[in-house]
Amino acid sequence: MLTIGLLAVIFLSIDELPAQIREWLRLVIWVVTVLFFLEYAMRLWVAPEITRFDQQSPTMARLRWAISLPGLIGLLAILPAVMLAWGYGIMRADTASVFCILWVLKLGLHAPALGTLARVVSNERAPIASVLILFFIVLVLAATAAHILERVRQPEQFGSLPGAMWWAVVTLTTTGYGDVVPLTVGGKMIGSLLMISGITVLALMTGVLATGFAQEERRREYLRVWEQVARVPIFASLGVVTLSEIVGKLRTRYYPARVTVVRRGDPGDSMFFISSGEAEVRLPNGASVRLGEGAFFGEMALLERHPRTASIATTRPTTLLVLYASDFYEIASHIPALAEAVEVEARRRREENLGRQTGEAKR
Ligand code: CMP
Repeated sequence: MLTIGLLAVIFLSIDELPAQIREWLRLVIWVVTVLFFLEYAMRLWVAPEITRFDQQSPTMARLRWAISLPGLIGLLAILPAVMLAWGYGIMRADTASVFCILWVLKLGLHAPALGTLARVVSNERAPIASVLILFFIVLVLAATAAHILERVRQPEQFGSLPGAMWWAVVTLTTTGYGDVVPLTVGGKMIGSLLMISGITVLALMTGVLATGFAQEERRREYLRVWEQVARVPIFASLGVVTLSEIVGKLRTRYYPARVTVVRRGDPGDSMFFISSGEAEVRLPNGASVRLGEGAFFGEMALLERHPRTASIATTRPTTLLVLYASDFYEIASHIPALAEAVEVEARRRREENLGRQTGEAKR
């Protein structure tokens, strides 16, 4: 709906389109607006059902929703319709429809990482502020230097500090429109330095945001794993401190049904714990074993440093906790009880597989 509505608004701004198509586009905008209005009314009506408002009266819940971010964005999305109605009534123009571009805000509500971005900016506000201050210092110094060096030859462009600052911003952000260019040797040197500083400042900002994102994602992943780990019995007996060490090293992976997780003969770089779902071990002799919630697999390749002994595929949607080989060896040296439990099970499986092979050979 959003895509259709936005495309209609964008195309309606092209004056050269035939009148009939423009009529259709107007109709589309109207339909989309009416549907958004219905959506807004419906969401307002069901607001008391939202769990965080269940302590409040229905009217209060609706009011609280109306002034929340989704509520305000919903309201903004229907406001253009009112303007559109006025626009047509008063000046018969499409100007008002341009405000329908505000619908684009609704897209923000569907962006999954927007909350993370807000947290990252809030967590990293000190380094971000430092980079911005650095940006500003370089900008003002360069603009002043260019103003002093260039104002005689180019009084129009560099005669004032704001004019020189425009050039400095365009150069520092490495945009370089080329509308204002230094002509003196000194000005060119300042320009070169400014371009290099621009790349450095942008790289700094990228670094700050990227590490912030990675750290935030790590924290979220930790919470996700912490929830899953309780379902795996092998971890149940461990104390909180030991468990938290392991949780920091596990990663969650979601697999749909019938996906091969481990292939026979591949090198083993990790082992897996099933926190929900089911996996099927396809042994080389054609037999298969099913592993349910709480079981683990992929340990034999890590313990024996051999290629995978069997292929394993999910039978239904499955959540796995992955432990990479390097982390497995580290944990095994810290927590002998865990390593022992994994080794005992691996030995049992190996004997079971050998038993099957000799049983088949006898037959
Ligand atoms: P790995 O050899 O790394 O990869 C295949 C995995 O299948 C193996 O580790 C075990 O975890 C698992 N596996 C092998 N044989 C059996 C068995 N008999 N029962 C359950 N799991 C098995």
